[in-house]
Amino acid sequence: MDESVKVSASAEWVAETARAGATIVPSLLASDFANLARELRRLEEGGAKVVHIDVMDGRLVPNISVGVPVVASVRKATRLKLDVHLMIVEPERYVEAFRKAGADSLTVHIEAVPEPTALLREIRELGAAPGLALNYGTPVEKILPFAKEADVLLAMSVPAGFGGQKFHPDALESVRALRASARPDAVVEIDGGIDVETIESASEAGVDWFVAGTGVFRAPDYGAQISLLRRLALDAKSK
Ligand code: DX5
Ligand code: ZN
Repeated sequence: MDESVKVSASAEWVAETARAGATIVPSLLASDFANLARELRRLEEGGAKVVHIDVMDGRLVPNISVGVPVVASVRKATRLKLDVHLMIVEPERYVEAFRKAGADSLTVHIEAVPEPTALLREIRELGAAPGLALNYGTPVEKILPFAKEADVLLAMSVPAGFGGQKFHPDALESVRALRASARPDAVVEIDGGIDVETIESASEAGVDWFVAGTGVFRAPDYGAQISLLRRLALDAKSK
């Protein structure tokens, strides 16, 4: 790594969640898209602080989801922090538009941007927290040289592209390596297959942000499920 790289502190809101110990980040991919305002209200009332929005282009990943207009609509409907996960090629073409639409963090994939330093700095200058993601199956060594540029380091625990997949425990090796390389005020985020069965192992490995799509939205009471997941994560951490 280039030791001369000057790195900024994490966005204050990200650092605050890091101090909170464990943050459950519901993924809207599993929500009812025809009733987003209601879903967001239920998440807010249920104690969520951050919501995850998956942007897929059918090129970096084999699926298509939502884009800038949906992020802008979500922004108008909620005060939750918007954690925008860009599973797209050429994300540099779109970060400004997503920031203008209201993204609070913008995470790009190392598979799409092998040399991400300039883009992560641009995201920070735009006023969003820069995030860097590693797809499941990509060697963690690809991302480590850039770890200190990111406020959010995301490890996929399933191949990116679809909700409801089975958690891969070997992703926790990447989590540990990311935690060891991250700035202390940055957060490590895990994405894919997080539920009551898997969250404790992720927490023990050093995860701060736990994305949960089906793990939250399948439950009848989102608030109760968020509380349960958070309790499991905090208890596992203090073991
Ligand atoms: C998948 C997305 C995830 C997805 C997770 O590529 O990045 O955020 O919503 O869904 P679950 O939690 O159901 O595995
Ligand atoms: Zn995601």
